[in-house]
Amino acid sequence: MNPPKPTSRFIFLTLTLLLFLILFISLIPSGATTVDNDEDDLEGIEELIALDEEVEGEEGPQHTKPSEAEVLSKAQRIVIELNIDNTHTVIDQNEFVLVLGYAPWCVRSAELMPQFAEAATALRDLKSGVVMAKIDAERHPKAAANLGIKGFPTLLLFANGSSHAYSGGFTSKEIVIWARKKTGEPVVRIISVTDADEFLKQHSIFVVGLFHKFEGSEYEEFVKAATSDNEIQFVETSSIDVANVLFPNIKPSKFSVGLVKSEPERYTAFEGTFKAENLLQFLNHNKFPLVTTVTDLNSVRVYSSPIKLQVYVFAGVDDFKNLLEPLQNVARKFKSEIMFLHVDIREENLAKPFLTLFGLEESEDTVVAAFDNKVSSKYLLESDPTPTKIQEFSMGLLQGTLMPFYKSQPIPDNKEASIQTIVGKTFDDLILSSPKNILLEVHTPWCINCETTSKQVEKLARHFKGLDSMKCARIDASANEHPKLQVSFLQTS
Ligand SMILES: *[C@@H]1O[C@H](CO)[C@@H](O)[C@H](O)[C@H]1NC(C)=O
Repeated sequence: MNPPKPTSRFIFLTLTLLLFLILFISLIPSGATTVDNDEDDLEGIEELIALDEEVEGEEGPQHTKPSEAEVLSKAQRIVIELNIDNTHTVIDQNEFVLVLGYAPWCVRSAELMPQFAEAATALRDLKSGVVMAKIDAERHPKAAANLGIKGFPTLLLFANGSSHAYSGGFTSKEIVIWARKKTGEPVVRIISVTDADEFLKQHSIFVVGLFHKFEGSEYEEFVKAATSDNEIQFVETSSIDVANVLFPNIKPSKFSVGLVKSEPERYTAFEGTFKAENLLQFLNHNKFPLVTTVTDLNSVRVYSSPIKLQVYVFAGVDDFKNLLEPLQNVARKFKSEIMFLHVDIREENLAKPFLTLFGLEESEDTVVAAFDNKVSSKYLLESDPTPTKIQEFSMGLLQGTLMPFYKSQPIPDNKEASIQTIVGKTFDDLILSSPKNILLEVHTPWCINCETTSKQVEKLARHFKGLDSMKCARIDASANEHPKLQVSFLQTS
């Protein structure tokens, strides 16, 4: 209510001026070194990054805080634009080139491009030897095809000219981690507690290795695992003080390795035999949080997890807020045996394919379902999804005692029908246990050829009307399931 006192305004102004000065002073020398180093790093393609340096030159002290758009446009220019003339040179003259093939109309390309540009800036700041390049495959179809770019967006790493598929994540951070892993910098070495503190601020998941000496077979296995893994940053240190900052109470033996995540179960020590494959397996079983929210960005990783038992909670964001903590407590009991996943029920693309499996695609209430991907079975929690019920349900999943779920429409009234309508729930009684001979027509609403068949079956039903030992029936296989009814839907074109 009171206007700020003149003194506080004065202090504020002074502080701003001071900040301005500090920024001004620190900008000059750091800017200069960056340019120098770049000239060393990217020898042979100076003309291609000339543009980029121009931008740096323009940056005076008056731009102490460049806008987000400015940062982005600068980052975009660090990325070399490939065309039919320069592609060969860029690929052949650099040990490592990470290429993004995109199309201007492609939405996913548009999402990836700023991440790619940000990664390019970060990699340059880290003095990585990777050259980042992009190619508009619509404008330069021939050059793109020569590189082996077929879909959009495509990321390819060229190492001495030979191409390698990209297998990392799609945020700028993940691109940086992957690029460094595959270009000879799989592990970051941390030597001081200050650096460790700084590293902690930047990373929410990482692997820490404490080694007396960076040599020997265990250390080699560690580096091998760091290189093969596609997404998690590995760090190494020989200082117990540094290790303790990253992973408190780490075992101070000859070598220790642990996984750190930013969630309640922050620290997991690796206790297996020291082989790269065991380390990777340990990561695959422990890298996900207690409860993972599935997004477009992580869905592929979630679906390809080696943990075959999965409990899904489909809930709106607000409903899920109340459920998260109790669910984490349940998840803790089944750690590394069952994956617990949350899908926002309003995310059509992510939720609907699953909900359709239970005939619940219209549901707005929380749905809890489970899958055993070893035997391709699905299960539905049919009572209220309280934490206790979810825990019982999960225990049943683990012990294999749940009843698999089969879809069924409500039981119809068949009294007057010449052709009986069968649903999942009546399949046993009316088909399998029936003493009669039954001609069963299996159809789906979207099957075009089914219509003609249906007409034929109706003719037959009329023809055999008086015959008591023979009945005609029909079932909609898109809405009804039964273990004895194995239908494969043929794709005809
Ligand atoms: C690329 O070639 C150079 C020179 O032959 C070699 O030193 C380097 O190890 C090669 N890099 C890769 C990743 O194959």
